[in-house]
Amino acid sequence: MQLKNDLLLRAAKGEKVERTPVWLMRQAGRILPEYRAVRASVSGFIELAQTPELAAEVTIQPVDILGVDAAIIFSDILVIPEAMGLPYEMVEKRGPWFPETVKSASDLKKLRIADGVDDLSYVIDAIKITKKNLAGRVPLIGFAGAPWTIFAYMIEGSGSKTFSKARAMLYTEPELSHELLQMITQSTINYLKAQISAGADLVQIFDSWAGILGPDQYEEFSMRYIRQICDAITEVPKTVFAKGAFFALKSMGELSCETIGLDWNMEIKRSRELIGTDKTLQGNLDPAALYGNDAQVEAAARHMMDQFKGTRHIANLGHGVYPDIDPEKVKVFIETVKNYR
Ligand code: CP3
Repeated sequence: MQLKNDLLLRAAKGEKVERTPVWLMRQAGRILPEYRAVRASVSGFIELAQTPELAAEVTIQPVDILGVDAAIIFSDILVIPEAMGLPYEMVEKRGPWFPETVKSASDLKKLRIADGVDDLSYVIDAIKITKKNLAGRVPLIGFAGAPWTIFAYMIEGSGSKTFSKARAMLYTEPELSHELLQMITQSTINYLKAQISAGADLVQIFDSWAGILGPDQYEEFSMRYIRQICDAITEVPKTVFAKGAFFALKSMGELSCETIGLDWNMEIKRSRELIGTDKTLQGNLDPAALYGNDAQVEAAARHMMDQFKGTRHIANLGHGVYPDIDPEKVKVFIETVKNYR
């Protein structure tokens, strides 16, 4: 199916675009009353994510309601641990929780490498339905967590400010850590390839907990595996978003991916110098800027656009949109980007 709006894909590849494409990380869900209505019809997040028709419906909502230039499939990065044999629960208002975690080599033996098609068929089906219902209006983004971020949840068992159990494991059990990271990496490659076969037009890797590692450890326990994923996925453009990894921007410039995501702590011009000119940059408005009034949101968005002007850019926030942001403010952000010249 020919895409009617392929701005995202052209911007990712560094081709000419009439205007900068815009979408928001975590646009599907949370902020939209229409999402909350669908979610209220089922037992919770997990049932919603595992019901392909409903996952497709909430994936398309931000395209209809907000006017974004891309859809991102409604799912979560934590489907990979589950597919490897470590199930999660979503605790209301608290986030993900794993009843079992990985503590030793014997725990690792209970896990398997996930097969993208068989173990995650509900995501694959949701992608197929979404592609059909989008009918080429905008590209569909597939995604996965980076191995380090997935590892952090599998060791820690929940979110954490420090992820000290996960970081301790890198020091106390480096071989075990590498073994698990390699299993996650292979599972992720299988999963992303299955998403692409089902119709994902671009894939993004979220390394949400990149910023809690030091530069040497980041290279050894994260970049090494992100590199393997980027090298293995050759079918569609790839985006790598490593939150807080300003120290790794130079080596990210050498990854075989098209786009690097920037968070709002990163200086745009300095990031461009480190990454070089042959990648697209995505981001990076502070999500908190959307708490402003319309004029303040517009000014903040224009200020961001000014700094990216004339360079390869996909507009986005510097992290996921916060759940209590008024969707009308998101629309002001999107319209400001669309009207920017
Ligand atoms: O719009 C989209 O971006 C698509 C859907 C999506 C979800 N999670 C749905 C979700 C995506 C891309 C994610 C990625 C994700 N999940 C990340 C990486 C991006 C980031 O924010 O750093 C991470 C770290 C997670 C893990 C996760 N999932 C947490 C920490 C939480 C709880 C806090 C929160 O964000 O609500 C989730 C739950 C989750 N994932 C929800 C949604 C819509 C809320 C659950 C609900 O509706 O009850």
